[in-house]
Amino acid sequence: MSGVRLDWLARPAAGPLRGRVRVPGDKSISHRAMMFGSLAEGVTEVSGFLEGEDTLATAAAFRAMGVRIDAEGPGRRIVHGVGLHGLRAPAGPLDLGNSGTGMRLIAGLMAGQAFATELVGDESLSRRPMKRVIEPLRRMGAVVESREGGLAPLRIAPAPDGLVGIDYASPVASAQVKSCLLLAGLYARGTTSVTEPHRTRDHTERMLRAFGAEVRVAGNTASLDGGQRLRATAIEVPADVSSAAFFLVAASLVPGSDLLLESVGLNPLRDGVVRALRLMGADITVQNPRTLGDEPVADLRVRHAALQGIEVPEALVPDMIDEFPVLFAAAALARGTTVVRGAAELRVKESDRIAAMAAALRALGAQVDETPDGAVITGGALSGGRIDSLGDHRIAMASAVAAQVAGGPVSIEDCANVATSFPGFVGLAAAAGFDLSEAR
Ligand code: S3P
Repeated sequence: MSGVRLDWLARPAAGPLRGRVRVPGDKSISHRAMMFGSLAEGVTEVSGFLEGEDTLATAAAFRAMGVRIDAEGPGRRIVHGVGLHGLRAPAGPLDLGNSGTGMRLIAGLMAGQAFATELVGDESLSRRPMKRVIEPLRRMGAVVESREGGLAPLRIAPAPDGLVGIDYASPVASAQVKSCLLLAGLYARGTTSVTEPHRTRDHTERMLRAFGAEVRVAGNTASLDGGQRLRATAIEVPADVSSAAFFLVAASLVPGSDLLLESVGLNPLRDGVVRALRLMGADITVQNPRTLGDEPVADLRVRHAALQGIEVPEALVPDMIDEFPVLFAAAALARGTTVVRGAAELRVKESDRIAAMAAALRALGAQVDETPDGAVITGGALSGGRIDSLGDHRIAMASAVAAQVAGGPVSIEDCANVATSFPGFVGLAAAAGFDLSEAR
């Protein structure tokens, strides 16, 4: 969002990665804390909030709708909730930046308001599919217009007859679709139910309950009744397992490494990367498991281990959807072949992550064969080279991880968007032993 171009220079790590690392707060949970805190009655205190561009954009959107959100130091927010019907029309479009979560969840909430809104995003977000939320929202009675092809900007007007609950079988396994519809369902008459082909992260269901709402979950179906009020609570945001994943892979790859990742969120619908890396032979131990608010967390100790290629079980895909870029890097450095299937959703993330990672790893000499819904990656040694991250934060960070064990320097281009999910990545990674700096 800053518009400033940023490149990185990464070199093979000089020695093992060691020490304790606390990665920033969970992005999914931080977004939801701002949204639900804003709509609750009373004051919600949030700690561990991700100070990233995506979640700051969500907070700014609610401020623009009249919610007072005080920043009381890093990761601390005091959200003065206005109640479900207390938002005010913003003076202009709401800019959700790079964030699919921001746009899709807020679209559901805006569908239930008595005023019109326009939701806009950056170039990447303006290419991402919004039909997946527009169509079911229209079935609920919402008035939503988009650019041709179901693309942002979205214009959402008050529903003339109000919203009505639907029973929706989603064709995609998407927590953003599920959450969008459940949030619209708070404003709907009757019950809103969403059934997914595979269960996806349930942060919305957990947090709505923490705010006092009743959400029913049976199998792959989540349901709630409209008209429920949210009551303010305190939210402690765990460290983001998606950010921790870069360190899990880097420490697995760099000989002699031994890292402790503190207070990592281990929601069972998010921890697929830990399970996949263990199948590859990674040495990861879960220490001090506990709950933080409504979410399970633990410290993760990771030590260097030789990795082997695997067929990634398709059942793991929704539980590690954001971690595939770094898993691709691990696969390119493992012994043998890794096969990823059933992950076509990767093509509609901040970039086409199958194509982006295939190009990145090929630029370092790897053999990667793309398939429509995954890739076949043959492990081996990597050389130095030049990678275009395509402005995708996770492609940039996954490339920096691969570079720690490449045969020479790797320049990584277009890295400014790392600030959307992981502000301070370069400094934290360097402190743990990465050879990584901003290019001058
Ligand atoms: C998210 C859901 C996932 C994930 C994204 C965050 C969420 O997207 O990729 O980073 O917070 O609900 P989809 O629901 O589109 O798969």
